Amino acid sequence: MTDPRINLVVLFGGQSAEHDVSCTSAAHVLRAADPAKYRITPVGISRDGGWAIAADTQRALAKGTDALPGRLEATGEAIEPSLALTHITGKLASEVTGPTVVVPLLHGPLGEDGTVQGMLELANVPYVGAGVLGSALAMDKAMAKQVAAANGLPQARYVALRAHEVTPGTPAALVHELGLPLFVKPANMGSSVGVTKAKTVEAVRDAIEVALSYDEWVVIEEAVVGREIEIAVLGNLEPRASVPGEILPGAEFYDYADKYVDDGSRALIPAPMTAAQMVEVQALALKAFTVLRGEGLSRVDFFFEEGGRGFLFNEMNTIPGFTPISMYPKLWIASGVSYSELIDELVRLALERHGRQRRNTGH
Ligand SMILES: Nc1ncnc2c1ncn2[C@@H]1O[C@H](COP(=O)(O)OP(=O)(O)O)[C@@H](O)[C@H]1O
Ligand SMILES: [Mg+2]
Repeated sequence: MTDPRINLVVLFGGQSAEHDVSCTSAAHVLRAADPAKYRITPVGISRDGGWAIAADTQRALAKGTDALPGRLEATGEAIEPSLALTHITGKLASEVTGPTVVVPLLHGPLGEDGTVQGMLELANVPYVGAGVLGSALAMDKAMAKQVAAANGLPQARYVALRAHEVTPGTPAALVHELGLPLFVKPANMGSSVGVTKAKTVEAVRDAIEVALSYDEWVVIEEAVVGREIEIAVLGNLEPRASVPGEILPGAEFYDYADKYVDDGSRALIPAPMTAAQMVEVQALALKAFTVLRGEGLSRVDFFFEEGGRGFLFNEMNTIPGFTPISMYPKLWIASGVSYSELIDELVRLALERHGRQRRNTGH
């Protein structure tokens, strides 16, 4: 008997500090994917980089989505990463006649940054989300800011430094140039990991050290006094923007605990603003998506300095969180796209892009 469904391979977990977030996102996606359309193969990546077919998750899925835990475990039958995709697209899917689509639901470095995407390109398998360049650009806050600036997107004033460029005089020079407080961030991270709001020169020094423990590049920004506005973008060549949402941070800024642990923050959807402001920020989100080579999906984040510079681009997340409290799915629900429709659309976009690229490379 053949199975005409799409073989949906969900990669989750991963080696970044956002491993847990990914496991929660994956549980939610698996619950929402229509079993009549998708045969799901969950593949967990452990914190130390081991790949495994998540057998417990597969068994739970077979009993029905209600049997799934709220957070998946990235453990199971070990498979070689180098062989994983041939394994998944070949042997495991032998009874499915539909195409295979990979959902790299991995946040942060070694997942959202183009590395896994490069492997999927080599394997010539369709996958959800941005390609190698778009993933790498958006992940690196220093490069994303350069590309955004070159394309006229308004943003906070910043300096990007590499570890060996930091001298004992750097913190004071930064404070002189950008004022206090300052936000100090590792260039390649996410979920506020390694991000510090520094209020003194000494604190800037410590914050740089913290950021450099996560990445060789550090970004230092003026602290913007403004509202935090986020837009969900969906599409390939003709992307659409959702209604804007607003984060009301529970802590002094939208930190890791706020995002995932205690749900201290609240979201306003849609964000209160005039129709003209909504149109403006949606256009900026689509511009950011285009210039940063977004594909499939992205959440584009802004600060809104009312009475000042208006909307300032902060960052683009090519694999935004999909947990129950995450903005991306909530923004689409508020814009009339249900969670399962969102999954269907992302799969369709992955197949569309793959077909287009194959034509371009003459295969
Ligand atoms: N320049 C800034 N001014 C004010 N707040 C900021 C600034 N940069 C970051 N923040 C705060 O820190 C949070 C995390 O920073 P962000 O750049 O979004 O990093 P991440 O990729 O970890 O989400 C933001 O959501 C915001 O609350
Ligand atoms: Mg952010």
